[in-house]
Amino acid sequence: MDEKGNYDYFTIKEINEEPKTVENSLKEKENVEKIVSQLGDIERICFVACGTSYHASLVGKYLIEELIGIPTEVIIASEFAHSVNTLTKNTLSVFISQSGETADSLEALKLAKEHCKTLSIVNVANSTLANEVNYTINTFAGSEIGIAATKSYISQLICIYLFVAYLTKNNNENDGNEIFERIMNSLDNLKQFIEEILPIEEEIKEIAEKYKDVNSFFFLARGLSYPTAMEGSLKLKEISYIHAESYAGGEFRHGPIALIEKGVPVVVVIPKDKDNEMYNDYDKSLRVLKEVKSRGGDVIAIGRCDDEKLKSESTELICLNEKIDPIISPLTYVVPLQLLAFHISLAKGLDPDNPKNLTKCVAND
Ligand code: AGP
Repeated sequence: MDEKGNYDYFTIKEINEEPKTVENSLKEKENVEKIVSQLGDIERICFVACGTSYHASLVGKYLIEELIGIPTEVIIASEFAHSVNTLTKNTLSVFISQSGETADSLEALKLAKEHCKTLSIVNVANSTLANEVNYTINTFAGSEIGIAATKSYISQLICIYLFVAYLTKNNNENDGNEIFERIMNSLDNLKQFIEEILPIEEEIKEIAEKYKDVNSFFFLARGLSYPTAMEGSLKLKEISYIHAESYAGGEFRHGPIALIEKGVPVVVVIPKDKDNEMYNDYDKSLRVLKEVKSRGGDVIAIGRCDDEKLKSESTELICLNEKIDPIISPLTYVVPLQLLAFHISLAKGLDPDNPKNLTKCVAND
């Protein structure tokens, strides 16, 4: 039976298990390499998932399209039926799920199997999803009791990065090896980076106390960081019941910015890229951040500790080690957001493990 050990809640126990999760998920390396070598010609990739697993899939899309150039889309499982006509035998459908029993994903899998190759990335090894696909990758996060997915998200991302790394090696004749090495080295250092982030909890408690009574939060980011903003927003909604919305930084100007007024908290996920490379569009994110500030919003930035410009522009800065390679920023920048949601939930006197109206697995449609 799972126990809370020294923790009061499974959610915080599971966040603290993330360094161990990194170690466990990386054990899938060989299996992922084998699967990628067997896939054959893939012209299009189609991720299918719900909730947090959907956000992990979006990270996959950004990586695959930018690094390899294979057209990739992410479809919410409950909407998949409307896209079935686009599937061909050279499409790979990738089903991501913690439980492997989400009804919408199983329904979508039935349809996908009639048209294309199927792969699953699941945490529950003997689940229906894992058993019904052509290839399966196990995330090895161990059992997750908290309703809000935390360590399982990290484990899904690790498997996606492994998948992308081997796909890159097989598809890019010139720089494939370089990107492969870069991802693998970053994953090797990941455990230590997450261990370093966890003590930020004390700082985050203070921020949680300050914002626990607001009616609404916004989460903004661009590029590879955008799914992190989406996940931060979902976590907050689920366990603190605060209305939260996420937007791609550029899109925020096309309407939602009208809602910014004095004191509205806006979380901006903004890892600085060394050479301002493609991953997170740092300069553009900084411009949106300044617009929020000039309208009286409170900017809670998640960025690099050596980013003095960001420090001076934000109301609060939650900072992470500048040595984290931006290519793996989704694996690290989400951790403070999980902690923020957890502590706002506690500060409001709620039970983060058992949010109202939610179940761990949505097993009926
Ligand atoms: C995540 O915090 C949620 N509890 C929920 O969105 C979940 O990710 C979704 O229902 C998908 O579940 P699955 O990964 O088990 O398929």
